Amino acid sequence: MGSHVSQPDFHRVIAIDGPAASGKSSVARELARRLGFIYVNSGAIYRAITWHILQEGIDAEDSDRVTRALQSMAITCCIQDSESRILVNDVDPAGHLRDDGVNESVSRVSRFPPIRQIVAQKLHECARTHDLVVEGRDIGSVVFPETPYKFYVDASPEVRLRRRAAQGERDEITMRDHADFSRSVSPLVIAEDAHVIDTSYLTIEEVVQEIIARLKEIGLRI
Ligand code: DC
Repeated sequence: MGSHVSQPDFHRVIAIDGPAASGKSSVARELARRLGFIYVNSGAIYRAITWHILQEGIDAEDSDRVTRALQSMAITCCIQDSESRILVNDVDPAGHLRDDGVNESVSRVSRFPPIRQIVAQKLHECARTHDLVVEGRDIGSVVFPETPYKFYVDASPEVRLRRRAAQGERDEITMRDHADFSRSVSPLVIAEDAHVIDTSYLTIEEVVQEIIARLKEIGLRI
């Protein structure tokens, strides 16, 4: 299989990509639990980096300062309780990842190629030691293009806005969507070989079932 030729060190990776509030996190976490894989939220790594940049008082538009800050940032991605956990300079920003400031700036920070490279590198490191379910925007298209297990989950804009509102979050997903779809590096795209699921009228359980059925069909031994 192609993946064994070009990415010989990697364990099995299931890629779950899609826009904000499409249901990726709930589905990816539950899927990982069912399969005994590690759940990795790649957006959380972008959010942790963004949080740190804002803490340093750096403008997310200032590419020079963002790039310099990155050089003095120790990003550790470890695994705890079957999930990835991110530390920035030994600080765990988990409680701040959905702060308004982070919501507002994360799409801008995640445009910078050096940041994307570091996140991809951290994800590759995790895949060398564990089977993963990774959610994000470019997991199937750029980070693990060789994995045969690719899913793209989507929902109508109305449903996604309603889901965010129900979570009580002030998250401008329309603005983030626009930035994520239109950036020049690793934009949100549907990988050619991804299985697309519209979650608008499905429960998490129904989506997980559909994914498991598809995984079995394409030969994942579970
Ligand atoms: O999954 P999320 O909404 O928490 O992600 C936050 C932001 O991080 C998203 O708006 C864009 C960026 N991101 C990315 O560029 N690539 C990924 N693989 C995951 C997230």
